[in-house]
Amino acid sequence: MKKILLLGSGELGKELAISLKRIGCSVIACDAYENAPAMQVSDKNEVFNMLDKEKLSELINKHKPDYIVPEVEAIETNVLIDAEQNGYNVIPSAKAVNLTMNRDRIRDRAKHLGLKTANFAYAETEEELILEANKIGTKVAVKPVMSSSGKGQSYANSEDELKLSWKFALEGMRGNRKRVIVEEFIDFEYEITLLTILEKSRQVTFCNPIGHFQKRGDYQYSWQPANCSQDVIRKAQDAAKKMVLDLGGSGIFGVEFFIDKKGEVIFSELSPRPHDTGMVTMFTQNFSQFDIHARVLLGMPLPEIKLNQPGASHVILAEENASGNYVIDGIEEALKDKNVDYRIFGKPFLKSYRRMGVILAPSLEQAKKAVKKIFVKAI
Ligand SMILES: Nc1ncnc2c1ncn2[C@@H]1O[C@H](COP(=O)(O)OP(=O)(O)O)[C@@H](O)[C@H]1O
Ligand SMILES: [Mg+2]
Repeated sequence: MKKILLLGSGELGKELAISLKRIGCSVIACDAYENAPAMQVSDKNEVFNMLDKEKLSELINKHKPDYIVPEVEAIETNVLIDAEQNGYNVIPSAKAVNLTMNRDRIRDRAKHLGLKTANFAYAETEEELILEANKIGTKVAVKPVMSSSGKGQSYANSEDELKLSWKFALEGMRGNRKRVIVEEFIDFEYEITLLTILEKSRQVTFCNPIGHFQKRGDYQYSWQPANCSQDVIRKAQDAAKKMVLDLGGSGIFGVEFFIDKKGEVIFSELSPRPHDTGMVTMFTQNFSQFDIHARVLLGMPLPEIKLNQPGASHVILAEENASGNYVIDGIEEALKDKNVDYRIFGKPFLKSYRRMGVILAPSLEQAKKAVKKIFVKAI
């Protein structure tokens, strides 16, 4: 039985743990808080700060896993580089995890490989941010180099807004690097995630593109297949293939692109693991992104990936000021549409806008309708 050390135990980790358990793996789920979603479906768990270098290496030595599988960015990745050098399998590869831990390294890599990206610069002080933003243009996006799900991310149009963005970024950042990326605002037509599969043999395979809509920098709903032209698909596949081959290893990657009005495909970011917008594949594909990641990371042959039916996902969110215990009401009402499915993540408590579950449906319209019937209530 292969032993997996899962670093990060959110909803994506939970589904991955289920996929891994189904094919006979033993899973040790890690995160900073108790009873995290993936811990509820794993063999063992460890609660600790994954940015703590000593603790992380101690746990790797304690469990001696066959595979170390990160589910989040906020991990002390130097430990994973050492682990890989000492013979451990890091998924997809220590290089991929290290380069994507911070936004700056992966963006620099994309530029180096000749991918089209938004103009960008970095800043480590408020003054530097204002200086760089003025060089880029009128409207910019500002993000901490280490953060996810839109945390600390904002848009700015003026010096006053840039000052607010700087403050907001420092509040939302993870880790201890006081550094932001400032990017040209792209007025895109739509955006996609291209789930890209890299096998050990370096064979690259793609899922159908997933369209998605974001609010506050966080995904609200997604659908598959996205309605892209063949030309857009080809450009996105070429860019994604270049990136994953450069990062190496084996696993599924979520590669994000903006598509502008002229049909240009602009690389945005990449996560070397299943993607939140890819939850829709639990409904649409014969093998979900979690099943695929599980098989490919173990070095198993990739099955033929088919789109069984089009579909959409919509998040079930906590309210802005939510905290503490909760109940979720209205699921029965939502399921009156007999083609609607759902997942509840089992997070132990509420937080502002926290993702508590997801609706899966054959169309976006049905997903949106179902979500309207559901209420996350603090108790
Ligand atoms: N430069 C940009 N121009 C326009 N929209 C952007 C830009 N950067 C980010 N966004 C929007 O914010 C979302 C989240 O940004 P992203 O860089 O993917 O952060 P995260 O790592 O938190 O997902 C994107 O999917 C997009 O909708
Ligand atoms: Mg993103």
